Parts: sequence; C-alpha cells; structure tokens
Amino acid sequence: MSGSRLSSLCVLGFVAASPAFATAAPGARDLATEVKAVFQAKCAECHGPQVRKPKGKFGYILDLKKLAADPDKVVPGKPEDSQLWQLVQDDEMPPEDAKAGPLTKEQKQIIHDWIAAGAPSVSTEASAPPPTTKAAEPVPAPSATKHLLHWLGKFHVMVVHFPIALLLAAAAGEAWSAWRRKGQPAPAVHFCVLLGAISAVVSAVLGWLHAASGYGLDSPVILAWHRNFGTATAIASVILAVLSEIESRRGTRSWWFRLLLLLVALLVAVAGYFGGRLVYGDDFFSW
Ligand code: HEC
Repeated sequence: MSGSRLSSLCVLGFVAASPAFATAAPGARDLATEVKAVFQAKCAECHGPQVRKPKGKFGYILDLKKLAADPDKVVPGKPEDSQLWQLVQDDEMPPEDAKAGPLTKEQKQIIHDWIAAGAPSVSTEASAPPPTTKAAEPVPAPSATKHLLHWLGKFHVMVVHFPIALLLAAAAGEAWSAWRRKGQPAPAVHFCVLLGAISAVVSAVLGWLHAASGYGLDSPVILAWHRNFGTATAIASVILAVLSEIESRRGTRSWWFRLLLLLVALLVAVAGYFGGRLVYGDDFFSW
C-alpha cells in the first residue's frame, strides 16, 4: 500500500507540475475517475444531472469537462483559486444537511489533487489501476418488482388531488350543515369522507414509494414535513371515515366528528403545501 501510494504521489507531483501531461502520464492515478466517484457519492444528490432543481443552479458536477471549463468553480492547476476547492476545504460543501455526510480526508485530497493535476476530464482507466477510493458504491440494478413499485410511485402526484379535494369538500359540506344547525349527517359529506380516506391512504402509500425511488432527496427537510403531514392525514382520515360510518348509521352528528374533520382538512392542506414546495421548488409560495 505505502509503496504504491508513495510512487503515485511522486507521479502526482510530476503531473501537478505539468498539467499538459495530466491525462497522458502512464501509471498515473486515474484522477478523473476517482474524483468523479467522490462527486457521485457526496455531491450528486444536490448537483447531479438527475436533480431537477440542482442546488445553487449547479447541476453538472459529474460532467468533468464542463466543470473544468467553468472558471467560476475550477481553475485547472490552481486549487486555491478554485471556488469549488475553497468550499470543500472550508467544509461548506457538502452542507451539514447532506444525506451522504461529510467528505473524508482522502476524498478531499482527491478533489484537491484533481484540480492540481489540471482537472483532467478524460479517464485513463485503460492504463491506470482501478481507483483505490471506496467512494463509489456500486448501484445494483433494481429488480422488476422494485422497478414496478418505483413506477407506481409516480402516480402519487396524480392521486393526491383526490384526498385534497374530497376532504376539503367534506369540510365545506359539514360547515354548511353546522351553519344550518342540522343534526343529521349529510350523505354527501359521508361520501366525500369515505372516498377521501381511501384516496388518502392510497396517496400515502404511493408517496412513500415515490420517495423510496429517490424523489425529493434534494430537499430532505421539506420531504420529511410533507411525509409526516401526509401520513398523519391518511391515518386521521381513516378514523374520520369510521366515525362517519357509525354516525351515518345512527343518524346523528357529533361535534367530535366536526372537530376531527376540521383537523383532517388542516392536515391535508399543510401536506399539500409542502408537496407543492417539493414539486415546484422551495420558493414556490414565497411572495
Ligand atoms: C445537500 C445538498 C448539497 C450537497 C450534498 C452539496 N451541495 Fe454544493 N451547494 C448546495 C447549495 C444549497 C448551494 C447553493 C449555496 C448558495 O447559493 O448559497 C451549493 C452551491 C455549491 C457551489 C457553488 C455554485 C455557485 O456557482 O454558486 C459549489 C461549487 C458546490 N456547491 C460544490 C459542491 C461540492 C463539490 C459538493 C460535494 C463535495 C457539494 N457541493 C455537495 C447544496 C449541496
């Protein structure tokens, strides 16, 4: 280990001193591949090409060629002048809320060395030994079931509109009954509550599937709020549906039901609010 490490460091020194040879030096570390593995593991959740709204409007961390050609971020051969390295060195990137956690010392070193070596974008895989970094976790191909579940999860964004509309409609209908001092449950409210509860449960299940396929990972905090309120809506609406069924059979309306319906309406509205921010961006509702 130490011997090969030492020799690769020597080569690195040579490479750093002559960026033109960065991709050609035989036996050199494959810095392009190594750094890409680090970026993939620690930065891509927010700056990768799959992120729909990349953080800082910077979504090409895996496109080394484009990255190296962007002097605002990387000055090839000069880590100290590169914003990207400054952020990494000062522990500002990745931020504290990063799912993948902070960079290890070795990973930082790889980023530094990559820039120092002239930020090569061409892999020298053919001539170099495989990268020694453990950053690249192999991503196994999803099984057919998993694929189907992830695909189903996409329907979350359609189905959610049913519980929102139905539960709010039930609340409006019940408010009307209360206003007119009606003591009996209205069949329309019962219908909306039943269908609202069923669609809320389906939405919640699909929502968990959707998140499991990676959606929303770039805004973990909003995702958590959305998930908690959405799940709470599903659970509360099921209790509400049971209560609605009991009261419909008895032919009486209780204030418990009205209170719970009000709570469910609030829950679904708040869940929808966070869902909107998740889909349309953090600042969607800002004035
Ligand atoms: C959890 C999300 C997250 C992760 C992970 C993350 N970043 Fe960022 N990054 C951000 C956010 C948010 C901004 C925008 C900060 C701002 O504008 O103040 C940003 C901005 C940047 C910028 C500045 C873009 C510009 O032009 O203003 C660079 C460079 C950067 N990140 C590099 C990295 C690197 C390198 C990594 C991995 C080691 C990384 N980031 C990991 C969230 C993340």
